[in-house]
Formats: sequence, C-alpha cells, structure tokens
Amino acid sequence: MTNFELYNPVNYVFGKGQIAKLNELVPTHTKILLAYGGGSIFKNGIYDQVKTALSGFDIVEFGGIEPNPRYETLMKAVEIIRAEKIGFILAVGGGSVIDGAKFISAAVTYEGDAIEILRKRILFKDTSAVIPFGTVLTLPATGSEMNSGAVVSIEATQEKLTLGGSALFPKFSIVDPTCIESLPKRQLQNGVVDAFTHVMEQYLTYQHDALLQDRLAESILQTLIEIGPKVVEEPTNYKLASNFVWCATMALNGLIQKGVPSDWATHMIGHELTALYEIDHARTLAIIGPNLYKVMFETKKDKLAQYGQRVWNLNGSSTDEIAEKAIEKTIDFLHTMGMKTKLSENAQDIEKTADSIVQRFQERGWLALGEKQNITLDKVREIVEMSY
Ligand code: NZQ
Ligand code: ZN
Repeated sequence: MTNFELYNPVNYVFGKGQIAKLNELVPTHTKILLAYGGGSIFKNGIYDQVKTALSGFDIVEFGGIEPNPRYETLMKAVEIIRAEKIGFILAVGGGSVIDGAKFISAAVTYEGDAIEILRKRILFKDTSAVIPFGTVLTLPATGSEMNSGAVVSIEATQEKLTLGGSALFPKFSIVDPTCIESLPKRQLQNGVVDAFTHVMEQYLTYQHDALLQDRLAESILQTLIEIGPKVVEEPTNYKLASNFVWCATMALNGLIQKGVPSDWATHMIGHELTALYEIDHARTLAIIGPNLYKVMFETKKDKLAQYGQRVWNLNGSSTDEIAEKAIEKTIDFLHTMGMKTKLSENAQDIEKTADSIVQRFQERGWLALGEKQNITLDKVREIVEMSY
C-alpha cells in the first residue's frame, strides 16, 4: 500500500427530513448566496424546504447554473458575492450546481484573471482565501458533495476543465435520499453509471497489496449492480434510494482511492465528448470506458479478471478469458442502465473527434494518462476511434 493522508472535513448529514437542519448548519450573521440550477428545485419542493429551514436568514438567490456549469455564468455569481459582501454559499442541486459553487468559492478573492483557475489548474489549500459553502444534494452521481474537486466548462472555447484542492470541501452536505423521487429516469441512470465508473477508475488498474480498498470498491460495484436497475424503476423505494445515494458518495469521497493507483483516463476523454457534443457526463463514460479496457487489455487484464470473478462471479480457463467476459458483462450492465455505448448513437458528425481530442491533449501536454502513464496519444486515438 502506498503512503497516504486521509483528510475529509465534510459534515455529511444523511437521511429523510434533514434539510430542516439547515438553520443549525449555515453560519448566522452573514449573507448567504443560495445557488441553484435550472429550476427543478421549485417543482419538487426542495426550494420550499430550504426556504422554510432558513426563514429569517439574509439570502440572495442565484439561479441558472447549467448542467456542465459554465465559467461565464459562474462569474456573474462571483460579481454578486463581491458586490453584496456575501459570506457563505449554499449550493442546492446536483453535481453541476455544487461544482459551480466550488468555482465561485475559489474565484471571489482570486487575484488575477479567474479563468486561470481552470487553465492553470490552481490548487486551493488555504480555507481563508475561499468563500465557505455547504450543499443540499439533489442528484446522487458525482460525489461532489463529499469531495474537493469540480469540473467547469468554458463556453467560449468549448473546454471542460477541473479545479480543486483541500480548501474546496463543502462545510456540510445534506443528503436526503427522497430527493431522487423527482429525478427523470435518464438522470437516475446517469447517476448509477457515473458512480460505477468512479469506482472503476480507482479499482480497475493493476493488482496491488491494498486488500481492503479492493474489497470496498468491489462492494460498491456489487451494490450498484444490485440496486441500479431497480432504483431507476422505483425511485420512491427508500431502501433503494438510500443505498444508491450512499454508494454514489462513497464512490468518490476519496476513501477507496487511498493507497492505490488510479486511472481517470475514461473521465479525461469523456469530458472532451461533453465539451464537444454536450453528451451527458455519465453517457460519455459509458462510451469510452469499455473501449479503454479493451485497448489497455494487457495492462488491465489481471485486475479485469479479479473484477470478473469477484464482482460478476465469472469463471473461465484463463485470465484472458475471464477478463474478456468481464468487459462484456460491463457493457451489458451499461445497456441495462439505458446507456448507448457508441459515440454515433449519441452525437452526429463525429469523424474528427479523435483528431480534436488528441490535438487538445497535445496542446495541454497531456501526453501520457492512466495508472501506468502508458495511455499515450496513440492509445487515446485508438480508444476514441473504437468508440465511434
Ligand atoms: O438544473 P436543475 O433544474 O436543477 O436540473 C438538473 C439538471 O437538469 C436535474 N436535477 C437535479 N436534481 C434533480 C433534478 N431534476 C429533478 N429532480 C431532482 N432532484 O438534473 C440535471 C442534471 O444535473 P447535473 O447537476 O448536471 O448532474 P450531475 O449531478 O450528474 O452533475 C454532472 C456534472 O458534474 C461533473 C460532471 O462533469 C458534470 O459537469 N462531475 C463532477 C465531479 C466531482 N465534482 O467530483 C466528478 C464527476 O466525475 C463529474 O465529472
Ligand atoms: Zn464522473
């Protein structure tokens, strides 16, 4: 096991009715920016719950944060915070709103052009230099409610870039599983697949000696396989909903990544597909993931076989055979979860996709990805072309 530090200061407040606790969690005597997305919170009653819990607090509202939040939109919130001297942000929404709040939090006192936060991948470690924020999660998927990373798109250049650092953990996150009841089927499917792929990015590498991390990762995968197809059909079932939201958080709150290698190339390539074609984040992962496992088969086959045996109960006469079957099982699962695993089923005019992605990675100096840094630009091209 490699050395690690485990630091996660998020006060994770889980369960039915927990939004009522907001008045104990947000700071008093400061103005609050209530950040939200396109308005789903007005239809499902979450806005009313938040406002009731925070009656008497000084709140400025900022709506319109898009799915795949835009730098251009978020900068408007930054201006409001500066002008109104706001001291706390409450993000009410899915990963996009929470990620947006992280960017806003970092940008308010950033000296210099805030676009550098994304372009230069600035790490934020000083909590006194960011605006504190809390979240009310409405869509389980990204784990953003309990991690310190975020992804923001720059509309002008069609780029999707990351930011983060230990100062960007939420102060608290309220996770009420009943919030998923109003999610469209497509978003429920996305949530399961995003969480599943987060685990795969941190697990499906090579064999190492961190036994517990492997078992934790496998248990999250097995739970998602068990409940994923059911929760999409029955989001009002509290047993399914509560296990789903907890899996999504556990998949990317840092725990399973400690002491082990990780890949993340599926995400890095997938983000480009969202930037280019506006394909939902999870759907890009379903397009890229299995092809990445195929192209990187020699690197990943031992772990693929372990995954096949332990997660899918597969057997076979050789490592290669079990590993191949494990990829097929994964693709079947993605189809069961409503994913279309070819790029051409999700976007049009895709012939130049591999060229564009390779060129962008080259310009950014991303010449080698993956747990062994052996996903070179040639491999990226092969993975993307295999995905057409
Ligand atoms: O905007 P509103 O009106 O709220 O509607 C949203 C949005 O249209 C809707 N929605 C959310 N909660 C709802 C609801 N509709 C009905 N009922 C509810 N309870 O769902 C739509 C999608 O929301 P969004 O926040 O975009 O989805 P998600 O949570 O999947 O977030 C995706 C973003 O997170 C990034 C992705 O790249 C993408 O930009 N990621 C963030 C990560 C992180 N911070 O750690 C890691 C991930 O890998 C991912 O990259
Ligand atoms: Zn993801």
